[in-house]
Amino acid sequence: MKTRFAHSSLHPNRGLLFVALLLVAAWAMAQDATSVKPKLNTGAEIYQAACVACHGPDGKGMPDTTVGFQKPKTFPDFTQCSQTTPELDKDWKATVRDGGAGRGLSRIMPAFGDALNSKQRDQVVQYLRGFCTDKIWPRGEFNLPLPQFTEKAFPENEVIITSRVNAQGTPGVTNDIISENTFGARNQLEIDAPIDFSRSAPGLWHGGVGDATIGLKRVVFANLRTGSILSGFGGIIVPSGSTTHGLGTGTTQFETFAAFAQLLPRESFVQLQAGTDQPIDTLKAPRSLFWRSAFGKTFRQSNGVGRMWTPMMEVVANKDFLPQTTPDWDIVPQFQVTLSQRQHVRVNIGTRIPVTNTSNRPIQVVFYVLWDWFDGSLLKGWK
Ligand code: HEC
Repeated sequence: MKTRFAHSSLHPNRGLLFVALLLVAAWAMAQDATSVKPKLNTGAEIYQAACVACHGPDGKGMPDTTVGFQKPKTFPDFTQCSQTTPELDKDWKATVRDGGAGRGLSRIMPAFGDALNSKQRDQVVQYLRGFCTDKIWPRGEFNLPLPQFTEKAFPENEVIITSRVNAQGTPGVTNDIISENTFGARNQLEIDAPIDFSRSAPGLWHGGVGDATIGLKRVVFANLRTGSILSGFGGIIVPSGSTTHGLGTGTTQFETFAAFAQLLPRESFVQLQAGTDQPIDTLKAPRSLFWRSAFGKTFRQSNGVGRMWTPMMEVVANKDFLPQTTPDWDIVPQFQVTLSQRQHVRVNIGTRIPVTNTSNRPIQVVFYVLWDWFDGSLLKGWK
C-alpha cells in the first residue's frame, strides 16, 4: 500500500469541504432548476459535481491560480498510469470518505464522509480509473505480501535482506541481499547476492559470497476482474561462490520460473511459483525443479488504515535430478508485519520445517526485512 505524507502549506480547513458541498449543490441547481437534489447517479456525475473543481475535467488537476491554493507535490495526475496504478481502490475510496488528512495527505483534499455513500464512492473511484487509458500496467492490488520462498508475480521496487539460520544440526547462516527494480509497465530486473556462513568444524567458520542470480521478470497477464496475475522469469546464476568452502556450485546455471497469484475474498490470496535450475555442468550441480506455494490473509489494524499483519503458510518443494533422490518438502509457517506507518518497511519471520529427507536438513528460522523504496526513503513515513 502506498501512502504519501505531503503537507500543504495551508492550514487544515474544514471549510473547504463546505465549499465543495456548496459546489455540489450549486451544480445540481444549475443542472435542474426545479430540483435541489444533486444528480449523483454515475461516477461521471459525481466527479463533475464534487471533484472537477480541483482535479480538473481531464483528471490532471486545475491550475493553482484557478483552485486558489498551491497544489502539493504529490497532487495526483490521474492520467499518469505509473502514478495511479500502484494505488489501491480501497485506499482511494478511504481518501474520498476521510479526506487527505485520513491518510496523511494534504488536508485540502476534502473528506466527503457520508455526503457520498459507499456505492457512490466506488463509482467515482472507477471513474478516476478511466483517466489511465494504458491498461498494460498491473494494478497495485496484486502487490501482495511477500512470502519467504515463493516469489511474487508483481514487479517490485524493493530491497530485501533475508536470513536463514539453522536451528539444529551444524550451525549455518545464509543471507541474501535482493534488489528489485521495475522498468516500463511490466518488467523487473532482479539481482540476488547471497552471503553465507557455515561452520565446517567446531570453531572454524567460513563466510563469503555465494552464487549470485541476475534475472528479468515480466508480467504475462494481470486481470483485476478475475483477480489473477501471471509472470515469467529468466535468469542466470553465476558461479561467484567459492566451491572449496562450499559456498558455490562452480557452474553457471539458468533459472526459469512462472509466478502466479490469485486474489481471494477478504484480502486472502494464493501465490504459486514453479521453475527449474539448469546447470551447464550437471556434474557440479544437479538439474532441479522447484515448486512453492503460499496461502495467506491480511488483517489491518485501526479500521483498515493501521498496521498490516499477514499470517501465511508456505509449502515448498525441491527435486534434484539425481539417481535415488526424492523431493525435499518443507512447510513454512510465518507472518509478515508492516513496521512503518507508510507500510513500506516490513519484516517477516517464520520457521522452515522439513517434512521429507529430514536427516540432513535442519529446521531453520527464516527472517527478512523489506524496504519498498518506491514509497519513500527508509527513514520517512514512520509516524
Ligand atoms: C478542494 C480541492 C479538492 C476537491 C474538491 C477534491 N480533491 Fe481530491 N485531492 C485534492 C488534493 C489537494 C489532493 C492531493 C493530496 C496530497 O497528495 O497530499 C487530492 C488527492 C486525491 C486523491 C489521491 C489520493 C492518494 O492516495 O494519492 C484522490 C483519489 C482524490 N483526491 C479523489 C477525489 C475525488 C474522487 C474527489 C471528488 C469526490 C476529490 N478528490 C475532490 C484536492 C481536492
